[in-house]
Amino acid sequence: MKIGFFDSGIGGITVLYHALRLLPKENYVYYADTLHVPYGEKSKNDVKKYVFEAVEFISQQNIKALVIACNTATSVVAKELRDKYSFPIIGIEPAVKPAIIKEQERGTRVLVLATNLTLKEDKFNKLVTRLDNEHIVDGLALPGLVGFAEKFEFNENVVLPYLKSQLTSYKLDQYGTVVLGCTHFPFYKDMLKKLLPKTVDIIDGGIGTAENLKRILEKTNQVNDGIGEIEYYISGTKVKNEQTLNQYAKLFERLSKL
Ligand code: DGL
Repeated sequence: MKIGFFDSGIGGITVLYHALRLLPKENYVYYADTLHVPYGEKSKNDVKKYVFEAVEFISQQNIKALVIACNTATSVVAKELRDKYSFPIIGIEPAVKPAIIKEQERGTRVLVLATNLTLKEDKFNKLVTRLDNEHIVDGLALPGLVGFAEKFEFNENVVLPYLKSQLTSYKLDQYGTVVLGCTHFPFYKDMLKKLLPKTVDIIDGGIGTAENLKRILEKTNQVNDGIGEIEYYISGTKVKNEQTLNQYAKLFERLSKL
């Protein structure tokens, strides 16, 4: 059986990248809901509807587990999906907890970069309210980065000015950790590093999510000995176009160099 991966677009590939390293012999189905990206700029109800449609499709692809490799979808709908489906569903959330614990000790601040919808959602706000006693967490939405990634735009001359303009009103040396709370953002880690002080740690939940997946498969004795194949779907249609498949392959190359 296969492992399903789901995101609004190509962002989930930043999580699949880690899963492939930990579980190279699994076969994967990657579903990008490219027709409806960006989720972060849509209403909660629309996102729910799109995710349910997508997951219903993925559930019919002989999967043994599903990774919701999208912080926005996880925050809006993970619980309801778990109520509906019997296979394990592994979500991804902004890695706020370890960041707060560390920065409370260091006396510096945490900047969470995510989508507008994730930052607005109860799930995120309840977590921050519960943990952030000293009010050290700030949130910033970067929808432009999602747009760039979906266009496979990784040219610094284009992306850096956008990032600079978004960060300009922040005193960056007051931060100890920047949390990448959207799976599209790790593609731009190199550029963020250029703008942030060297002392800032940049973290994301991708590795932890892949580790969770591995733990669950091991616990249920479902680790595979397959060939590590990946099938791609764009909003329900299998991707056969060589050019698109090459673009996806290049994303893994990019991630391996960051
Ligand atoms: N990649 C997604 C996330 O992790 C959402 C991006 C979007 O569709 O706005 O939140």
